Amino acid sequence: MLLLPSLLLLATSWPVVIADSDSCSSSATISSQSDADTYANCDQIDGSVTISSSASGSIILNNVTEIKGSFTAEGASGLTTLAAPDLETLEGALTVDSMSSLSNLSMNSLSEVSSGITIIANPKLKHLEFEDLEEVDGQLKLTGSFSSVSLPSLDQVKGQTTIRGGRSMSCTALNNLQSEDVYHGGYSCSTSSGSSLSTGAKAGIAIGVIVGVLLILFLMWWVFRQRRVRQKRRRPSQTPASISPPVLKDEKQSTPQYQPIPSSDLSPKVPRKPVGLAPALLDGRSIYEAAYPASPIPVYHELDAGPVFSTHQRPINSES
Ligand SMILES: *[C@@H]1O[C@H](CO)[C@@H](O)[C@H](O)[C@H]1NC(C)=O
Ligand SMILES: *[C@@H]1O[C@H](CO)[C@@H](O)[C@H](O)[C@H]1NC(C)=O
Repeated sequence: MLLLPSLLLLATSWPVVIADSDSCSSSATISSQSDADTYANCDQIDGSVTISSSASGSIILNNVTEIKGSFTAEGASGLTTLAAPDLETLEGALTVDSMSSLSNLSMNSLSEVSSGITIIANPKLKHLEFEDLEEVDGQLKLTGSFSSVSLPSLDQVKGQTTIRGGRSMSCTALNNLQSEDVYHGGYSCSTSSGSSLSTGAKAGIAIGVIVGVLLILFLMWWVFRQRRVRQKRRRPSQTPASISPPVLKDEKQSTPQYQPIPSSDLSPKVPRKPVGLAPALLDGRSIYEAAYPASPIPVYHELDAGPVFSTHQRPINSES
């Protein structure tokens, strides 16, 4: 009964463990911690190690001290921690590129890399430390928004050394290594001056703010104008309102608006000759209300058919 599980265990570890339990020959593609654990009894991996782009969370490659090929982690956007705490020698290149969540890269036993080290485009990676790193036979390229890069044991870099970090990063310790003739292939260390925003982003934000303010000002002006237009319209609208509901209503209900206009008010304009019972407008004021039919004595009006001299029509018998 116990034979079956142990056979299964042997079967799963068979492709990994070949000659002896300390050396694993195949190249490794690691997408999870359980994948990494299958190499925990490998002191040495004879091929390359690749972190799958589907890897997420944290991957710690324990017990492996030497990798004969390269170590590559590219585009694993879900991976936050990548560690190979026992790794001392890497015969290929170390590449950590475009890991959008990676905040912890830890290889504190690594002392010799026979090819180059390229660590670029990992926005969350702020602290980079290779405590034991002594020798890099290829290029050393570390660019990002680092606040610290620490290479306290560095003894020689045979290729080009390019280090670029964030505003708060200090180049002093790295610069000091120049006088010790550490950089054989050229050296530069720089920090991104100013904020991490590009000039394009800054211009975009400035334009956005200006457009926003203009939009708010326009809206305020428009609302104010609409209110003024409404107020203007309300005033002249009182005249038609007094025309439309005629005095046929109960006299007690009629508002002061509908009350008969005193004849003294109308005297200069009210004609004496009758023209009929039709409602008439004079100078924009309704004059029939007073006369028809509320008034017991009908008042008739006649309008001048002749030339118009002013803005209103003048009655024939006007004294003026
Ligand atoms: C890692 O190596 C240590 C000895 O250095 C050993 O005790 C341990 O069991 C190894 N881990 C695994 C998972 O094999
Ligand atoms: C990074 O990960 C390693 C391995 O898990 C751990 O020992 C170390 O403390 C971590 N460092 C930080 C800064 O979180």
